[in-house]
Amino acid sequence: MKKYIQPHRGDVDRGHREESNGHKGGVFWFTGLSGSGKSTIAHAVEKKLFDLGKRVYVFDGDNVRHGLCGDLSFSPEARAENIRRIAEVTRLFVDNGIICMCAFISPMRADRERVKDIVGESDFHEVYISCPVSVCEERDVKGYYKLAREGKIKNYTGISAPYEEPTRPNIAIHSDRQDVDESVQLLFEYILKQTKL
Ligand code: ADX
Repeated sequence: MKKYIQPHRGDVDRGHREESNGHKGGVFWFTGLSGSGKSTIAHAVEKKLFDLGKRVYVFDGDNVRHGLCGDLSFSPEARAENIRRIAEVTRLFVDNGIICMCAFISPMRADRERVKDIVGESDFHEVYISCPVSVCEERDVKGYYKLAREGKIKNYTGISAPYEEPTRPNIAIHSDRQDVDESVQLLFEYILKQTKL
């Protein structure tokens, strides 16, 4: 806690908001290589939850990096700061009783552990979107793997920068073996269960 700054509490607290929303808030933190399917799966699950009347929001690396984190590179320090900022924002969203899905490569275990510390263990769920780098590279939806191989993009995760797999994720999806519909259904059911009041 900072000196000479005191948090203010209003009459409306998280419990009131969650009751009004009809469900609990929480952070579902997707981690996985670029091209593993994080954004695709997160947005499809978001649509299903939204259609059921849930208050849900997807934070996506490719979007956030144009605004809130537009000043950050892909150095290890900048990636850590990227993740820290998102964690702080999602903490506020969770206090609003919102279901947050965060789709960031978030390659380092220590950075993901920090998210858990910021958000609080009971609100944090690690979702591992597992897919071999060879498959992501074959998909190469954005063409970035090719550029990374040519050295035109430096520090590219999986090619010239590390990815540390989660050791004990809350849920793992194998996007090279499970199709999108199956993956979406699995996660949708998991999130419904975890956010039940
Ligand atoms: S993270 O490592 O800090 O978590 P984040 O999820 O925000 O990454 O952004 C990843 C996206 O940025 C990738 O999907 C890709 O489109 C793009 N990108 C550009 N440069 C890189 C790089 N060097 N490594 C990984 N992704 C990159």
